[in-house]
Amino acid sequence: MKQSAKISLAATANPPEVMQAPMIRVCARLKSMGFDLSKRRGLEFFAREGDWQTISYAGEIARLDAWEIDPKFEQTLRANLPKAQIRIGDSFKLAAQKEYTEAFDFIVYDNPQGLFGDKNQYCEHFEALETIDPLIGSQAIIIFNINREPFNYENFPDWQRRREQFYRRANTSLLDEKFLLSFYRDYFQARGLELLEVFIEPRHERYLAYFVAAVAKRTD
Ligand SMILES: C[S@@+](CC[C@H](N)C(=O)[O-])C[C@H]1O[C@@H](n2cnc3c(N)ncnc32)[C@H](O)[C@@H]1O
Repeated sequence: MKQSAKISLAATANPPEVMQAPMIRVCARLKSMGFDLSKRRGLEFFAREGDWQTISYAGEIARLDAWEIDPKFEQTLRANLPKAQIRIGDSFKLAAQKEYTEAFDFIVYDNPQGLFGDKNQYCEHFEALETIDPLIGSQAIIIFNINREPFNYENFPDWQRRREQFYRRANTSLLDEKFLLSFYRDYFQARGLELLEVFIEPRHERYLAYFVAAVAKRTD
């Protein structure tokens, strides 16, 4: 299989309630932990049409911005998220705009799997997470996709190499929860972010999960 082969989250056609259930669980768990979501300003960094999961938390927060690069999704995205501020453009460029500095306290990176971008310059959430710092104020809830056990991984050597570099380990075909929690604690720490709360919530596909982190900028 060619490296450029698309890895689809929707490889199996799941009904909306199956796709959306994990994010509904995430919101319920955050609220049970004492986080008030109702005044938060959220950002969906990779929005598509928003019906795979964005729609399931849009009503929980005060305000939502949704960014998507592909104009073919715009019409349905607007229909699915009628109250959201929609931008069609490259989220990496939008994230650098002054108007979004410290604008958000709830960010979801529903990142594609494998390599993506016109030059395959991005991999999973690895580059996208680097946009956290300008986008958040003193604290935020950050949610992104982690791939614990990539499907058909042997067909994607470039993806393997990028994961090996990012996770700094030789074998990334199976990442257990203990490793992931420790890795991202160090990751956030190295970027001046204290991890206040953290949990991993399985998604609709066995290999995929949400990494959910409440972070605060260190003041020291
Ligand atoms: C996994 S889908 C998102 C699904 C969506 N959150 C939902 O709930 O339906 C990933 C999306 O990221 C978009 N994307 C990829 N690169 C992007 C970029 N640089 N800027 C904005 N969107 C991008 C893709 O076009 C695709 O629609």
